[in-house]
Order: sequence, then structure tokens, then C-alpha cells
Amino acid sequence: MIILGIESSCDETAAAIVKDGRTILASVVSSQIKLHQPFSGVVPELASRAHVSRINSVISQAMGSGRVRLDAIAVTVGPGLIGSLLVGKMTAQTLGWAMNLPVIGVNHIEGHLLSPLLSDKTVAPPFLGLVVSGGHTDLILVKKWGHFRTLGRTRDDAAGEAFDKVAKMMGLGYPGGPIVEKMARWGRGSLCPFPRAWLPGTWDFSFSGLKTAVLYKLRTQQHWTTSQKRDVCAGFQTAVIDVLVGKTIAAAKAHGVKTIVVGGGVIANRVLRDEFLRKTREERFRLSLAPVSLSTDNAAMIAAAAYFKSKHTPKSALHSLRVRSQMGLS
Ligand code: KG4
Ligand code: ZN
Repeated sequence: MIILGIESSCDETAAAIVKDGRTILASVVSSQIKLHQPFSGVVPELASRAHVSRINSVISQAMGSGRVRLDAIAVTVGPGLIGSLLVGKMTAQTLGWAMNLPVIGVNHIEGHLLSPLLSDKTVAPPFLGLVVSGGHTDLILVKKWGHFRTLGRTRDDAAGEAFDKVAKMMGLGYPGGPIVEKMARWGRGSLCPFPRAWLPGTWDFSFSGLKTAVLYKLRTQQHWTTSQKRDVCAGFQTAVIDVLVGKTIAAAKAHGVKTIVVGGGVIANRVLRDEFLRKTREERFRLSLAPVSLSTDNAAMIAAAAYFKSKHTPKSALHSLRVRSQMGLS
């Protein structure tokens, strides 16, 4: 089954063609980072306008010569920015009508959750998934295909959002994750210990207290040298990683699953990847990480999620294309 995936929920316009949920035939991502950089965050109106102007050419590039025979079109229907989501949805529905193809609506978080399956061809349920991105930090138990149970999620900031906000506080630029990681590489985290919110008794996360602790630390002196900023970044990053890895492994143990999968932009972080590798090896879990190239937003993960959804959902349920925004509009 060959699916054209379309993703436009935030600041990447993306299209991809994926065969049987596991093989990427083409993947094109047009990033809007440069457009939003001056504002240190995504400006929704600018994002949706940029999607409108880029989406047709991104799809054409993914389709290449156009010789591939599609079986369906998949599109992200939420969560995300409402204007941006609508651009993808309208495009998918128009193409579906013109090409006489079914259109499958996909949840963006499900896309991130299943993104590791595009490189690890044998991983299958039961598994515990962590989706760790700029908008989400969710622990999801997948006992069998089509059964997603959210065990916990962030109560405030997502992990990636905390990286972005800490970078902004320190005047380091946007998006913050890769910059903080680079700074932390040369920092001494032990000189800047920060608290960890373990929230015992739940599988939820919280990163806003940590972010505030960094803010208070920054207020303790007027001028910060680059070397001191590196120490702050290292201390912050270690605190985030400890909680992400610690809680994921504890949840997998508690629910008796031996496989852990991790997707979302933050898993591009090398230190987080290494820590997951080290700890899962120690505790004898099978680990499947989204490759760095598929950790941030892309359309291949949307096409893959649509494939697995179409295999495990009754046909009648596949055409529901309600668009949900993060603000709960519908
Ligand atoms: O998955 P994604 O592209 O978008 C959402 O669905 O939110 O994730 C973007 C997030 C941003 O917050 C960015 O700072 C973070 O992923 N990120 C990183 C790294 N690369 C991207 N966070 C930490 N370390 C990185 N290397
Ligand atoms: Zn995402």
C-alpha cells in the first residue's frame, strides 16, 4: 500500500511517499525556522501563509515524475495550529477528490510515536512509547495495534518547549534544543544542579518548575560568561534527561513491556539518545529510537501512521477528517 503523507501542523511543510508503513520512497521537508527566528517562536499567521505558498511544490517534489501509483493520502488533522492544519487538510481533500483516493486523517502524536518503525522494521506492539517534542511529552502504552493508552503527559511545558524557553532566557536563539545541546557539550552540569520533578505516583511530567529554577539562577548575577552559560545549559539538560529516561523505564517495568520506542524532536538530542541506549542496555530493554532525520516534524511518519491505522481500523472510521487545534477548537 503506497501512501502520500502531508504534514503542516506547525512550522514544517512536508510531504512523503511511504510503502507499507515502513519504506520511505520520498520525503521532502520545507522548514520555516528562518521565518520565525526573529520572533524566537512560531508566529501562527506567518506559519499558515508559508504553508499555503509552499505546499504544492513540496508535494510535487515528493511525487517526482508522478509515476508512483498511490493508494491513499494521509494528512495530519491535529493537534497543532488551526490555520496551519487547515492548509494541509484542504490540500489533501482536494487531491483526494481529484485523484479519487481515500484521505486518512492522522493524529500528529501518533505519527511521532510510530516514526521509529520507519527505520526499525521489526518493532511491533506491545511497546511503551515516549513522544518528546516541542508541543508534547507523552508516555503511551501500545498493547496491540490501534490501542493507544496515554499513561501520562506533561502538566505544563513540553520538554522541547522548556529547551526553547531556556534558550530564549539566555538569549541563545531559536529553536533552543539544538543550541542548548551544543552549549551543554562543553558545560559542567555539576556546577549548576537543578531540581527534578519526579511527580511520584503518576506517569505525568512537569518542566515549568525546572524552567523557573533556571530563571532564578540567571537572576543571581548580571553578567554571564559563555563558559558559565554552558554550565547552566548542561545542568538543565541533565535534569530533563534524568526524568525522561527514568520515568520511561519505570513505566515500561510497571506495565511489563520489554520494548521502548521514542519519537519527537527532542530525541534528536545526542545525550538523550546515549542515555536511553545506556540505561536500556543495562536494564535489558529493546530500544527503538526515531532516527535523527525523522525526529522533528516530517510527513513520512504521517504516512506510516496512516498505514497502520488503515490496517487496524474499520474502513468506515477512516474518513473522519475533523481538524483539532491545540486550543481545543474543532
Ligand atoms: O517534533 P518537533 O519538530 O515539533 C513538535 O511537534 O513540537 O519538535 C521540535 C522541538 C523543539 O522544541 C526543539 O527545540 C526540540 O524539538 N529539539 C531538541 C533538539 N532538536 C530539536 N531538543 C533538544 N535537543 C535537540 N538536539
Ligand atoms: Zn511534531
